[in-house]
Amino acid sequence: MNVLDRRTLIGAALALGACESAAQGPPVPVEIGPLRAAAPFPLGVCAQVSHIEDPEWARLAATHFSQLTPEWEMKMEYVVQPDGGFRFDRADRLAAFARAARMRLYCTTLIWYAQRPEGFEKLDESRTSFGRAYDNYITAMVGRYRGQAAGWDVVNEAVAEDGRGWRESLWASRLGDFDHMRRAFEVARAADPDAVLFLNDYNLETIPRKLDTFQRLVERLLNAGVPVTGLGCQSHIDASLPSGTYTRTIQALARFGLPIHVSELDVSIVRAGRGQRRALEERQAGLYAEAMEAFMELPAPQRFAFTVWGLRDRDSWLKRENASDTPLLFDDLGRAKAAAAGLAAPLGALQPLASLYGNENRAT
Ligand code: G3I
Repeated sequence: MNVLDRRTLIGAALALGACESAAQGPPVPVEIGPLRAAAPFPLGVCAQVSHIEDPEWARLAATHFSQLTPEWEMKMEYVVQPDGGFRFDRADRLAAFARAARMRLYCTTLIWYAQRPEGFEKLDESRTSFGRAYDNYITAMVGRYRGQAAGWDVVNEAVAEDGRGWRESLWASRLGDFDHMRRAFEVARAADPDAVLFLNDYNLETIPRKLDTFQRLVERLLNAGVPVTGLGCQSHIDASLPSGTYTRTIQALARFGLPIHVSELDVSIVRAGRGQRRALEERQAGLYAEAMEAFMELPAPQRFAFTVWGLRDRDSWLKRENASDTPLLFDDLGRAKAAAAGLAAPLGALQPLASLYGNENRAT
């Protein structure tokens, strides 16, 4: 089925929804098949312990997803204690849930400018003890999930917000702008010879200078022999993103020949600005479709995983920014929305329109 037909199907689902709920009520849910069964690559979702304790969340996630990323409880903010000790209880619970649900584990994040826990800050200025603690932390984290973790965001958001150079951070100031990144990848590789090691960043779709600086950083790391073996495109986009922009971004990242992780996809309605809700929801569905199509067009060895950053709208981090945002595939009750239809169509997992239009139009 070509892209236009897929988009037509999605548009029909939305149009039907709009007809049946002309009032600005919740979107009419669509029906989709199990996404994980339809995808020839891992489909990921992020999770917190509070999510896996919810049987409805667990059932829906295990139905549609084959990879799980701890949303925050495997990060320094939770793991590293003020005395420098570590606590892994919640990360372990999330890893155990993934195993039980036959989901791959993807881990985020080892080194991130946004997190500088007290345990590290208090270390003395001497590079030796700070460096030793840095290595010890990475070794402990990566070693603990060796054999289960398919990959790690080793360095997260290294490029400056505006793309002019790299971010400042505790890690850069103590261990060197480039060296702290080289060191993180090398220590992670020593702790797990098999995990795919990612450089992960966001707004690569919307800030050309940022994408360019990211690509030059990748080149510098690779040329220095640093074991960067995957590239993560977080993909926190909004419904105003022009068609084709996302595709061009993924194509640009794919030029290195490394595995690509669409690592944190959500499509904000609110961040898109003013617009008729239904029209924004149609754009949102179209962007989910475009993201999936762009990913599916990659060579199979480069299709590491396609991860959405939350299961139900109510689970999204964006709710803290604006409670009316509905950026994800499933509504607050866990019902698939048009956004899910957008993602399902390229996978051939979009079901209801065939029943609406008879078998001759069955989504393939
Ligand atoms: O659940 C606790 C709650 O019990 C406690 O009272 C409250 C106050 O301390 O904290 C709550 O945990 C918060 C958690 O989100 C769940 O809401 C953490 O403080 C908060 O730091 C955490 O934020 C996460 C954030 O990364 C920082 O780790 C978000 O969930 C998560 O979506 C967000 O994800 C990031 C990616 O890692 C990188 N890309 C951007 C993305 C969105 O910011």
